Amino acid sequence: MVSPSTLFAPAAPEFIAQHLQHPSPEQIELRDGLMDHPAHVDPKFLYDALGSALFTAITQLPEYYPTRCEAEIFQRHGGDIARHIGPVQSMIDLGAGDCVKAERLFPSLRPRHYVPIDISADYLQSAVRRLRLSYPGLRITALGQDFSHALALPASIPAEQRLFFYPGSSIGNLSPEDAHAMLQRIRGQCEGGGLLVGVDRVKPRQVLEPAYDDALHLTAAFNLNLLRHVNSVLDADFHVDDWRHVALFNSTRSRIEMHLEALRAVRVAWPGGQREFSAGERIHTENSYKFTPQSFAGLLASAGYRDVAHWSDSRGWFSIFSARA
Ligand code: AVJ
Repeated sequence: MVSPSTLFAPAAPEFIAQHLQHPSPEQIELRDGLMDHPAHVDPKFLYDALGSALFTAITQLPEYYPTRCEAEIFQRHGGDIARHIGPVQSMIDLGAGDCVKAERLFPSLRPRHYVPIDISADYLQSAVRRLRLSYPGLRITALGQDFSHALALPASIPAEQRLFFYPGSSIGNLSPEDAHAMLQRIRGQCEGGGLLVGVDRVKPRQVLEPAYDDALHLTAAFNLNLLRHVNSVLDADFHVDDWRHVALFNSTRSRIEMHLEALRAVRVAWPGGQREFSAGERIHTENSYKFTPQSFAGLLASAGYRDVAHWSDSRGWFSIFSARA
């Protein structure tokens, strides 16, 4: 038996990575965040190769419900969702990671062109190599870039019938102002097309906090690994052993916060700078905003979307929104 991939040579996926500058925008951003009071590091620095693998492991934890809830919604309502979206020329996957979520939607959405974007370029590249063999007829343009400040798509992606796919509640990592700006930026790139976005919902702290502070300490490893990533990007000298993982629900701001807390007084240095942290001082590494269906529908409307439709899982823990740009 000859496999289809040997009969039809698949088109080579394009791979475009951002240029390197020195000091890089990432290095400048890290230095500024570490010198701030309180210190903060953007959650995108959680995703080096190991961080991406740890996140994939987290999605399999019993405590981490969002991934399973989202999969349940696509399983139960996939047909309705695809009908609401209509025809898709290109599917632009924001923070594609292992590309598995988009892949599950290929049969119902039938995109001609798949455009995964992820800051973790190596991880994305191996995912794309796998896809290329499984979908020889699909055009793939993988973008190894940070889309948090600008969203520039290469001219090879037709302007018509673009679907932006932003699953997993990743939009919850942005402040309300940044989420609004991101939604507007996306809308500017998909006029006549649409957006499919997953958001996590407000629920009791007893459910939320264990999802971000699990019994196996995978989330702690995920958070602490950020320090190693910072060491490699900034040439800093963080010792992972000096820090501990903290996750808590801030109900006033409707968000889970992750922090790294210094276990003792430490000094951290990098070329051209240093910072002293006292025992108990924290670095804020992530916010994960939780929405109500009303609050997120309001955000979409304020960013100029129309025809907003919404689906949720059986427990009402997670929501999928489809909207036209
Ligand atoms: C990938 C951004 C959706 O906020 O739930 C998982 C990342 N952080 N555990 C989230 C994450 C801690 C995650 N997102």
